[in-house]
Amino acid sequence: MRILVTGAAGFVGSNLSKRLLSEGHTVVGVDLMTDYYEVAIKRRNLAGIESPNFEFVEGDLNELDLAELLAGVEIIFHEAGQPGVRKSWGKSFSEYTRQNIEATQRLLEAATVLDTLQRFVYASSSSIYGNAERYPTMESDLPKPVSPYGVTKLAGEHLVGLYASNFGLPTVALRYFTVYGPGQRTDMAFTRFIKAAIHGETIGIFGDGTQIRDFTFIDDVVGANLAVAFGENVPAGSVFNVAGGSNVSVNDVLALLTEIHGAPLNVDYQERVNGDVFRTGGDTTAIHAATGWVAGVPLAEGLRRQYEWGVGVL
Ligand code: NAD
Ligand code: UGA
Repeated sequence: MRILVTGAAGFVGSNLSKRLLSEGHTVVGVDLMTDYYEVAIKRRNLAGIESPNFEFVEGDLNELDLAELLAGVEIIFHEAGQPGVRKSWGKSFSEYTRQNIEATQRLLEAATVLDTLQRFVYASSSSIYGNAERYPTMESDLPKPVSPYGVTKLAGEHLVGLYASNFGLPTVALRYFTVYGPGQRTDMAFTRFIKAAIHGETIGIFGDGTQIRDFTFIDDVVGANLAVAFGENVPAGSVFNVAGGSNVSVNDVLALLTEIHGAPLNVDYQERVNGDVFRTGGDTTAIHAATGWVAGVPLAEGLRRQYEWGVGVL
């Protein structure tokens, strides 16, 4: 199939593109190569996608000719966006509205006139829940983001739903829960912790480390994308949690990393940061019922794989 992956140079988009290519699809990747984190890493991600069936377009979804970009595309995976919960305050907010809301709306509009389209998958986020009303959190629970980033991801998700209900667009929104693994963004916890451990530097923890996350391994996230894109029992407008089932605290992660590293870590407990939720935890009954998908990589194994990757490149 001919598949568009937006944000193809990023963490999730590059891994998703590789998997699609390995399964024989043609992938058109698009990315603006924003400098939120090192552009060199995005270039390296792209260099790792070695396939004659990969076409890359460097450009902005807010400006490109989308009719041209989408010609003949059968599936869209919309991974492009401005991520990061803690940096979405202040002046940078306009980046979040532009990349997460406006670009999504523009892509949805273009998709409505694409007669080849079979599926539009949107990368949503656990951050739309905020401090949820219960754990594990279900898709029907009230979204109440605590970061401006979460507000923009929720707005994007609502737009996706509107294009399903008003124009019959075959959309699915996947709410990813803290994705980790080889290639994880350099602003995210595990990559920062591993880099500091390798270089004997201090790991800064925001708060007392008791905050809990449902960390999800990258291959599982990629698998969930394929499951909903090719699944036959996924109604238009569906929304699913994609969570790894690892409800652990940041302190638990540090203990695990100490074992993997084989030496004590230098840890500095700092102020908590606005925008961080205390806990995430996703119920995945719905995606399992619709597609059979279930997370497969336990945290200890996934963290070890990310550590081994980090030793080579961080
Ligand atoms: P990433 O920053 O590595 O990748 C996103 C890519 O989108 C970047 O390379 C960026 O240059 C590109 N981009 C941004 N605006 C663009 C535009 N207007 N046009 C074209 N390209 C543009 O982030 P990631 O961690 O791979 O996340 C991918 C998606 O998943 C994002 O939408 C993010 O909000 C969502 N998400 C990620 C996580 C996670 O833990 N990584 C969790 C929940 C949701
Ligand atoms: C992550 C992504 O960064 C968001 O883009 C995404 O939308 C979100 O997951 C999600 O699930 O929706 P976050 O959970 O903050 O956000 O992921 P990490 O950056 O890996 O942080 C995990 C925990 O470690 C947080 O509690 C954070 O406060 C803590 N942390 C992070 C530190 O203590 N120190 C650091 O240097 C980095």
